[in-house]
Amino acid sequence: MSKKPLILGIESSCDETAASLITENEVGNPIVLSNVISSQIDVHKEFGGVVPELAARSHIEKIDLIVKKAINESGKSIKDIDAVASTAGPGLIVCLSVGLSFGKAFASTINKPFIAVNHLEGHALSPKLNSKIDYPYLLLLISGGHSQYLSVQGLGKYKRLGTTIDDALGEAFDKTAKLLGIEFPGGPQIEVIAKKGNPNKYTLPKPIFNKGGCNLSFAGLKTSILKISKTIKTEQEKFDLAASFQKTIEEILNKKTKNAFDEFEKLNDFKKKFFVVAGGVAANKNIRSMLINLSKEKNYKSVFPPMELCGDNAAMIAMVGLEKFKLKEFSKLDHPAKPRWPLDEKAIFLKGAGVKL
Ligand code: KG4
Ligand code: ZN
Repeated sequence: MSKKPLILGIESSCDETAASLITENEVGNPIVLSNVISSQIDVHKEFGGVVPELAARSHIEKIDLIVKKAINESGKSIKDIDAVASTAGPGLIVCLSVGLSFGKAFASTINKPFIAVNHLEGHALSPKLNSKIDYPYLLLLISGGHSQYLSVQGLGKYKRLGTTIDDALGEAFDKTAKLLGIEFPGGPQIEVIAKKGNPNKYTLPKPIFNKGGCNLSFAGLKTSILKISKTIKTEQEKFDLAASFQKTIEEILNKKTKNAFDEFEKLNDFKKKFFVVAGGVAANKNIRSMLINLSKEKNYKSVFPPMELCGDNAAMIAMVGLEKFKLKEFSKLDHPAKPRWPLDEKAIFLKGAGVKL
């Protein structure tokens, strides 16, 4: 039996320093051997958001320890590694440079190929870590810096069907949390307090809701939350606003996903229709269950990454590395860090289409 590839993945594009080793079994299903993530929440908390210089310093301090831990926890040794894959973009250039340089140096020291990975492709392929998915598939990528519907035709082949024209969805969650006085990073807390609120208490705007197509817009919603938040006097009203916000997001995503299904079907022929949802906001249980129900109704098989792999991690970077390794798609050691790196390079530039923050 031939040796299965062992890939070291490294992620440092924003405020998580992460490393992971993955391989695959006899039938080609990936196996995550280790997945180490070190979050910088404590570093950035007092500033209410990510401070790039502090993030980069923290990556520099931790990267070697995190990689060492990932290797130790995998039960493998350095000599077993067949390739090193690092995130090269999009993201904060000072942060990207840390994991990218470390990965290049590591690969060159062990004399193995280096693979530069697009962070967004990592999110796009993250559900493959636990599910079998056939190309083409429809992808909804909802993270802190991106909100896009993409038709995924194959590895590295993306056609953008829709994108946010202003804020990303995770950004809308984070900004709403900030307006409600919730500590950074507040997005996940909105889901928690929304459980205690009345989702029908406030009527919030749904920008470009009736415009057709599957572009998204959340800036008007944020302005409305800002106005209402100034009138809030009780904890219960805060819960009600969080619940109303989350319900409005569900309604927007429901309508736009139906439109995205139509656009995807015009573009592709398939035996089975897959709808993949990835990125940090895919961890939101209300959004998940709404999208699962909609998929059932429209005959799609919905696929989500495991909860712990929705946010930034290095297993998803290693997953892209594994697929590229099998196709011998290696990168040169002078591959640049790319702060802007859209998945669909032909799509016109709109904020949210390729910049991570
Ligand atoms: O994918 P990710 O970890 O980082 C980026 O690549 O941006 O996504 C982080 C985003 C943050 O904006 C965070 O608030 C949001 O995902 N998020 C959530 C939840 N968990 C994380 N938003 C809503 N509900 C959640 N449960
Ligand atoms: Zn991400």
